This record gives sequence, C-alpha cells and structure tokens, in this order.
Amino acid sequence: MKKDLKLLVVFLIIALQTAAQLPLIPYPAHVSIKDGSFQFSNKTKLLYDSPLLASMADAAAIKWSAASTLQIESLEHRNGTIEQSVLLSLNQPFDDELGMEGYQLVILNANVVLSANTPAGILYGLQTIGQLLDAATDAKISCATIVDFPRFSYRGMHLDVSRHFMPVSLIYTLLDELEQHKMNVFHWHLVDDQGWRIEIKKYPKLTEVGAWREDRSDLHWNDRPLSKKDALKNIGGFYTQDEIRAVVAYASQKNITVIPEIEMPAHVMSVLAAYPELSCTGENLGVPPGGVWPITHIYCAGKEETFVFLENVLTEVMDLFPSRYIHIGGDEADKTNWKKCTHCQKRMKDEGLKDEHELQSYFIHRIEKYLNAHGRNIIGWDEILEGGLAPNATVMSWRGEEGGIAAAKMGHNVIMTPGSHCYFDHYQGDASIEPLAIGGYTPLSKVYSYEPVPKELTAEESRFVLGAQANHWTEYMPVDTHVEYMAFPRLAALSEVLWSPKESRNWDSFARRLPFQFVRYAKRGINASKSAYQVQINAAGASGAQGLDVSLSTEIPGTEIRYTSDGTEPGANDKIYNKALFINNTTTIKAAGFSNGKQLGAATSRLFTIHKAFGKALKLSNQPGEQYKANGEASLVDGVTGTVNHNDKNWLGFYGKDLEAIIDLGKTETLHNVWIETLHNSSAWIFAPREVTVSFSEDGKKYSEAAPLNIAPCDQSRNRQTIAAQASVNAAARYVKVIAKNHGQLPENHPGAGKDSWLFISEIVVE
Ligand code: ACM
Ligand code: ZN
Repeated sequence: MKKDLKLLVVFLIIALQTAAQLPLIPYPAHVSIKDGSFQFSNKTKLLYDSPLLASMADAAAIKWSAASTLQIESLEHRNGTIEQSVLLSLNQPFDDELGMEGYQLVILNANVVLSANTPAGILYGLQTIGQLLDAATDAKISCATIVDFPRFSYRGMHLDVSRHFMPVSLIYTLLDELEQHKMNVFHWHLVDDQGWRIEIKKYPKLTEVGAWREDRSDLHWNDRPLSKKDALKNIGGFYTQDEIRAVVAYASQKNITVIPEIEMPAHVMSVLAAYPELSCTGENLGVPPGGVWPITHIYCAGKEETFVFLENVLTEVMDLFPSRYIHIGGDEADKTNWKKCTHCQKRMKDEGLKDEHELQSYFIHRIEKYLNAHGRNIIGWDEILEGGLAPNATVMSWRGEEGGIAAAKMGHNVIMTPGSHCYFDHYQGDASIEPLAIGGYTPLSKVYSYEPVPKELTAEESRFVLGAQANHWTEYMPVDTHVEYMAFPRLAALSEVLWSPKESRNWDSFARRLPFQFVRYAKRGINASKSAYQVQINAAGASGAQGLDVSLSTEIPGTEIRYTSDGTEPGANDKIYNKALFINNTTTIKAAGFSNGKQLGAATSRLFTIHKAFGKALKLSNQPGEQYKANGEASLVDGVTGTVNHNDKNWLGFYGKDLEAIIDLGKTETLHNVWIETLHNSSAWIFAPREVTVSFSEDGKKYSEAAPLNIAPCDQSRNRQTIAAQASVNAAARYVKVIAKNHGQLPENHPGAGKDSWLFISEIVVE
C-alpha cells in the first residue's frame, strides 16, 4: 500500500508540473512558482517567533515528521540562523491584504518563512506546507511565493447528531479535517425530534428520556410509527458538558468556532417526551423513532414556562459555548396546535399579533432579546423571516437562496446553505448503487460550481453574505464512517468555493488536484467517496431509429473508462471507451473509471432494450404530468429504462391516473414476453402500480382477454427502487395494450395520507 501511494504521488507530481500548479486544496489566492526546491531534512527546525505559536508549531512538527519519516523539531526562535529551517513569524505591523486569516509563505532553497497577522493565519499557512509536504517526493517542496487569504469569513460544516447520535471521536475527526480544509465553523445540530444530545444540569430528563429512542431501523425512516410507551428505548446518546468543553477548546486551537443549535419552536419532540407540559396539548408522544411530518407537536408559545425553560437551557449553553452566535433553529414549525391552543391564542391577543407567523416571530424575538442581553447573537433558518425578522438576527438560507437575498437586502447577515448545492445528505452518484440517501443529486462538480453571492444582490448588499456551509442531516447516515462518506470530498469542493478567489475557480484544475486529496484522506483513514469517478451512461436515439448511441462519461475529465457489454463486471483489461457505442440488441452496459490498472469508483450499469416495440407508435389515453413527460409517449418505447432518479427524464409520471397505452407494431408479430419498468419512491409519492395487464389485438378493435403481469416485490426498507412487472405470453398480434393501475391514495402512515399517488413508467418492452 505504502509503495503504491508513493508511486501514485510521483505520477501525480509529473501530471501537475505540466499544468504548473501546486497540489493544494483550497487553492491559494496568489501563487508564484519558482525554480528550485526546499529540502526538508533532519536538520530542518520549525522555528517560531512568538510563544502564541508554540502549540501549533509543536503539532505541525509531529505531523510533518510522521508524513516524511524525518525528525523535525519545533523551537522558539530568538536569534541566529534560519538556514534549512521553517520560520513562523507574526507580522508587525498588521498587513491589511492578509487580514485576520491570511498568510504569506516564501519557500526558498535555503529556508521557508511563513508570516501572518494572527495565529490563525499561521495555522492556515502550516496546512499549506503540510499539504505540499505530504504530496512531495523525498520531502522536497517547490520554491514559491504564496500570498493567501479567504474570500469568505464563514466557512462552515453542519452536523446533525440528533437523527443519529455520533460518537465524540467523529467530532474530533471532523475538526481535524475542517482545519486541513481551512474551514472555521462547526455547526453542531444538537437538538431535533429524534434525540436531545446535550447534558443540561437543570433538566436531567432531557438526556435521561430525550436522548433515547426505539430502534426501528427495520423500516424506512419515513415509515416508522410512533413508539408504544413500553417499547425498548435503546438507541441514542448524548454529550456530557465535560465532553463539550473539551471539543470547544480543541476546536478553538484550530481556529474553529463551534456554534450550537438549540432548535425551537419545532423539532423538539425529544424535549416534549421528557417535559410534555411545554407543548400546547401536554400529550406525551415519546421520542419518535423516525420521520415526523408535519411537525405539529412543538413548544407552546403561550405558556410562560416554555420561556423559563429555554432561558435556563440557553444559560447553560452559553456557559459551554463562547461563540458569538447561538443557532436557535426556527424551521418547519407547523402552527396547527397553536391555532387550537388557548394559551397561544391568549398570547396573540395580549401581544396584538395578527397570525401564528407573528406568534413565531414573537417567540424568536423574545429569545433573541435574551441572548442579545448576554452578548450573543442568533442565527436561524430562513423561516425566521416569516412574521417579521428579529432585529439582530443572522439568516441561514436553506430553502433556496430567496431567504438569504431578502435578509441581505434588509441589512442582515446571511449564511448560504441552499439545498441545491449545500445539502450533503443528497446523493452524490448513481442512486442505484449509492447507499440510501434522502434524495436529490448533488455531485462533486455541482458543489464546486456553487456561487454563494446571488446575482440579485448589489456589491453593497453582498457584503452581508458571510459565507456558506455544508449541511449533514443524518436520517440516512447511521454511523460515523457514513458521515465521512457523504462529507468528503464534497467538503473539499466547498472549501475552495469559500476560500479561493472567484476568478481562479476552475473545475479542471480542481479535478487534477483531487487525487492528492484522496491520498490525504486515505492516509488519515477518512472514508471518502469516489463517486465522482462513477461512469454516467447515457443514450440517445441513433439515426434512423435502428438502435441507440450510448455515451459514457465521468465528472472528472480525462478518466480512463472501461466497460463491458456482456453483463460481467468491468475490469482493468476490459475495453477502453473512446467513442459512443452503437447498440442494436438488448444490452447491459457496465462501466467504471480506472487509473493505472486500479478501479476508481464503483461500477455503474444500465440496461438498454431493443425490442419489437422499439421506436414504434404508441398512444396514451391519459397524459402524464407536465414535469414528468420525458420526451413524450415515444419515451415508453425508446429502449431506455429509467434510473431510480425520478427526475432523470426517462420517466412518464401519472398523478392519480392509470397508464393506458396501445402500441402499434406496424405488422403482426409473434410475441413471447412483455414487461414494464416502474418506480417506487414513497417520499416522492411514487408507488408501483396495483395491477398491470396486457392484451393483444390483430385489428386494433377486438382485444384478447387481459392477462396480468407479475409485479416484483418492493423492498420496504429502501425508499427508491425500480420495479419490473413481467409476463410470458404466447400471442400473434399487431396491437399491444398495457394497462397499469395507479396505486391509488397514499397509505395511512404516509405523510400525504389520503392524497393521490404518482405512477411512473419508463419503458414498455415487447419481445
Ligand atoms: C432544514 O433543513 N430543515 C433546515
Ligand atoms: Zn400553545
């Protein structure tokens, strides 16, 4: 393994030198590469000119020694030579260009000088040297001058530890990674419906009761009923105040602010399981073992005791977290219970509030006032704009960018975290082979393309955009290694979005530096995802409709792609892809990226069906919905089956309606087999059909008796899956009629219970 890594690094260095860039992520603001190199050796000392730098110098010396197998010593520099050494120096006077987090790094043959205005700047310069060193051959780094500073002051990562409790060891791992990615905020989502995770001395039941729930991992997250009172509550956990203090102190050495999130007024069923009197109804619904929607069981905004409770909790929270900001949540509160509650209605009357949005605004204002009086500021999800924004609040824009735009125009600070680019709980590769995720599709290149400053803002208003953050909601990340898989390398892409100058951002350049980042992740034992190397397999109708042109590509340009067309797994000796493949037989293409004979990401697979109805005329009795009509009726006989992504433009979606299709084969044919590809995705309200039948006709008027197709069973623990319905037949016919019955109303336990469901079909295959 070690030898392999070394060879890979040599190969990468050669590749990089041709492109004249350094193996750094995020890429520095200004880099000037010079001739020559600095040689680390056992004589190299890590010197620092201020005792403020001692601990980070000691830590770097240990890390670099391990990375280079050298013995690098750190010591305070008083006077004398800096020959063969690395000197860390705090600037006097202040250099405006570098600001509070920037640094200058001058690498000469004889020595290296890293200077900055602050210890934070030195810390980031040390990461840069560390990255150069761990990508170096024989501990030699190129001479260069680097002047570097971040574009944004808020460079964050969020982690939900409620949906699944995460061991404190993961928090330390993430803090180490944030430091290496030059990111500076860890947003700790400590409270949600499915678990309360912070010890509060005054309210012990929060953790005795609120931190534990029934294990229903046998069911999909959204299909889990509320627990019975006597159910075993055996999964969960919480952080003690001592653990939290230690985390916060560790983070601060890495220039990372830990911002706690204490959700209110919703996402608090874990609290209400412990203290039901804080809700409007006083009911005890327990800690839910899975998803809850809509979120109606929330704090009562009318009862004074809710505010007493929250102020007491926040007092302990402020004592643990020195951050200027406390995140108070504010999202997704359904006001149904507030409308019915005498306490809430009395509060509205007494305070002259015209609706429940204003009541939520009252709630948040009141908490803001309390925190402001203690020298803190609030951050809230963009719902805190509804009913009137609290005067000093910072808005975290998650439902797109609109909330952020509105808040910036009002002169409020904003942190961008739109679902489209910053929700790292979304899929990053082919959903049929990725571990189960919430949905969406946010591959690495999409994260990299994110621009945190919306065009709608003027230069003046843009200054309120402090930065952005990646959110890790853990409904579908049960364990720490899974969090790593979702976070990395997408966090590397976001780090460059937030740190590097906008003008210098370049996907091809990032993609060339990415292999070094994978080597780093491997050395550090991080379970990074290689999904960016997955092969995307796409088809277009070939000319004359005789077959399909299938093209293969990856996000990472220049990846060597190898494929098979006989159903076997692709290997290092299979065919290399270099131009579109023409397919005129039913074929499964399997493909993967390779480098130096090693497979880079998991193999992807697509089935293309060339059959008797391929390219033939098809008529529908019911039309599909506007947003799910692919290329119209022809899509059902275009040879391309859909993926589990219902937005992939291969699916026709029928809302509350059946599919009724008649295919005209043009002439009488002998038929042996009919099957259709359908989809199940309960969160998107898509259900496999209740029943599918086929019948045949010679003249298009008189049809045979309808025969059923066998619908394959649905895996209840998996949200998205394609499902085939198939039947062997024995018929001679010109016309084929297929009827797929819509599942009907959404089931009892579904969030949309009683509403219509979608029926999705991508292909009708007639053989
Ligand atoms: C959120 O995703 N509910 C902020
Ligand atoms: Zn109430």
